This record gives sequence, C-alpha cells and structure tokens, in this order.
Amino acid sequence: MAENASESGNILTSILSEIIESPLNIALVCLIAFLIYKIVKSRTHVPSASTPEPTLPKLKKRDFTVQELSKYDGTQEDGRVLIAVNGNVYDVTKGKRFYGPGGPYAAFGGKDASRGLATFSVSVKTEEYDDLSDLNSMEMESVREWEEQFKDKYELVGKLLRPGEEPTNYSDEEDESSAGTAASGAGDRPKED
Ligand code: HEM
Repeated sequence: MAENASESGNILTSILSEIIESPLNIALVCLIAFLIYKIVKSRTHVPSASTPEPTLPKLKKRDFTVQELSKYDGTQEDGRVLIAVNGNVYDVTKGKRFYGPGGPYAAFGGKDASRGLATFSVSVKTEEYDDLSDLNSMEMESVREWEEQFKDKYELVGKLLRPGEEPTNYSDEEDESSAGTAASGAGDRPKED
C-alpha cells in the first residue's frame, strides 16, 4: 500500500520535473489550462459571479519612474493597477482579478513585469529599474509577444522611465489622433549618452 503510494508519488515528481525543466513545456501547460478554462467558462451560462472591475476615469498620458509605478499596485485608494511591459506602462485595472491584491499575478501589479513574463516567474523582484540587457533573444521575443497581448487588451498610459530620464510632455498630444505615438517599445527608447 505504502509502496504503491510512494511509487505514484515518484511518477508524479518525475512528470513535474520534466515539465518544469523546459519553458516550452510550462508554456504548453499554461496554454492547455487556458483552453480548458475557456471551454469550461463558455459552457457555464451563469452570469459572471465575480464582482465587476472598477471603471476608473482614463488616466492622463504620463511617464513613470519605477518608484511612481509601484504606487499603482491596486492597494491604494482608487484601486488602479498599472504594469510596465517592455518599457511601456499599461493600465490593467480591468484585469484586476489577475494583477490586483490576492490575484495570481499580483506580483506584477505596480511593477515592470517584463523579466517575470520572459522567464515565466511571478517571483522576480523588481524594486529598481531593470534594463533587461541580460535577457537572451528568445526571452526578449517573449517580452515583445506578451506586450502585444497587453497592447490589445489594455490602455497604454506612457513610458517607464530609466534613471535620470526626463518624462515626456504629453500636453501637446491631448487630441485622439496622436494617441499611441508616445511610447512604442523599449527598443525605440533613446539611448543615453
Ligand atoms: C501552470 C500554471 C499556470 C496556469 C494554470 C495559468 C492559467 C492561466 C489562465 C487560465 C489564464 C487566462 C485567464 C483569463 O483570460 O480569463 C492565464 C492568463 C495569464 N497568465 Fe497564466 N497560468 C499559469 C502560469 C503563469 C505564469 C508562470 C505566468 C507568469 C509569467 C502567467 C502569466 C499570465 C498572464 C500575464 C496572463 C494574462 C492575464 C490577462 O489577461 O491580463 N501564467 N493564465
């Protein structure tokens, strides 16, 4: 009996270690879980039982230092949640169930999530500006793919500022036609001299 239990425990451990060893396997597990979730969700016709996300006024376009960004982890009074990905800051308040306090990805709230997303980890510590320069090309590609998803789903607010970088003055860009031109990825950020 006990032998059986330890044998099945061993099998489980070896399957788990197989999965954890490769980022591709982790990504596939994530994808399968996501698809199962979507199927189950589409079959249950119960109207959303979860509390609706707060609808806050659109944030005025502005840039953030890492310290300024950290104030928007959803624990503050208005509950807004911002996340930086690839040098751009997104308002993810409508995804607060993911990134807000108690959410599975709460560690990304008010933070630059780029490194965590690239390495499939929610336990990356990003207290200071991270230039991501040590990420390999596959990881950087992953950061860009994640950013595309954020761009599609969430509102772009501005740029994440590197230390000493001056914020952009967006007051001239108030009209809608110029929206979205302010920040177009870390790759386009001007290099410091
Ligand atoms: C085996 C572990 C995991 C499972 C089962 C899982 C499951 C899911 C599911 C079901 C969704 C879609 C939710 C929805 O759209 O309603 C999702 C989205 C997401 N996952 Fe995971 N996940 C896992 C691991 C991770 C890891 C390690 C990361 C961190 C890099 C991550 C980052 C994300 C992000 C950023 C989203 C998008 C949320 C949004 O729409 O804003 N996941 N995950």
